[in-house]
Amino acid sequence: MRGVALIGCGAIGSVIAKAIDEGQVNAVLLYVMDADKSRAERLATSLRNQKPTIATSVEEIANDPRVEIVVEAASQEAVIQYAEALLAAGKELVVMSVGALLRPEVRPLLAKYKSRIHVPSGALGGLDALKALSLVGIESVELVTHKHPSKLADEPYVRQKGLNLEGVREPLVVFEGTAEEAVRAFPRTLNIAASLALASGATVKVKMVADPAVHNNVHEFVARSRAGTLYVKVENLPHPENPKTSYLAALSAVELLRSLCTTRC
Ligand SMILES: NC(=O)c1ccc[n+]([C@@H]2O[C@H](COP(=O)([O-])OP(=O)(O)OC[C@H]3O[C@@H](n4cnc5c(N)ncnc54)[C@H](O)[C@@H]3O)[C@@H](O)[C@H]2O)c1
Repeated sequence: MRGVALIGCGAIGSVIAKAIDEGQVNAVLLYVMDADKSRAERLATSLRNQKPTIATSVEEIANDPRVEIVVEAASQEAVIQYAEALLAAGKELVVMSVGALLRPEVRPLLAKYKSRIHVPSGALGGLDALKALSLVGIESVELVTHKHPSKLADEPYVRQKGLNLEGVREPLVVFEGTAEEAVRAFPRTLNIAASLALASGATVKVKMVADPAVHNNVHEFVARSRAGTLYVKVENLPHPENPKTSYLAALSAVELLRSLCTTRC
């Protein structure tokens, strides 16, 4: 069984911890950590079979040789804060806040430790085919995300621009830019733009549409290459127990962890 630590005990972190607790993942959960310690404590006490320690610093996790895999399900800032210490200590890192991997301060880590940084497919699909197409070069990747206007109100970009989306009756493009710009503008919602950029090696054009006709987030991308054109569209439903989470994103993290824990056991 592989030793796992979890950073971020919110919606996705809770789903991952529960999957380990219920034996879906062949691992032992050694640590949980959260900037809000009470969340880590609440999660730890909710588990039946696992008895993780509440970590109070990343060094505690980095210095414990039993920890082989660290799952980040926190924020882009958490990746910036902790990734280097964990990777330098030889840990494998599963990154949910993929947008951080496009940030200039994290890019060098990606080059140095690429084989130990794992990115789940998240709220999207088709990344395997995208990686295959990248072997012959990808001409273009375009991502369009449709989100209900009410769900965009808390996004940094919408607040900074002072956009009032309350009266929107028709689909309205609120943002257009590259993946690098998208993950800064929408750090919670557009991690998938980073996943596409990393899988394709191409420049990704991103649009965010405030769309009163959609209730669930819809992500759609088209990738063109001389080996074929890939069209992928995903409508994300909320997790039944954690409505804040994309069900698929949480499942993709569990599935990635399952495979990491199966191949080495
Ligand atoms: N890759 C994808 O497709 C995808 C899909 C959905 C969510 N995400 C990302 O996954 C991450 C987790 O999502 P969630 O829905 O579980 O969020 P959440 O807000 O429910 O939980 C995040 C938890 O992490 C903690 N946290 C934040 N920054 C921290 C830090 N620097 N150090 C320690 N703890 C910290 C918070 O206190 C919170 O408890 C987010 O960054 C989100 O954008 C990625």
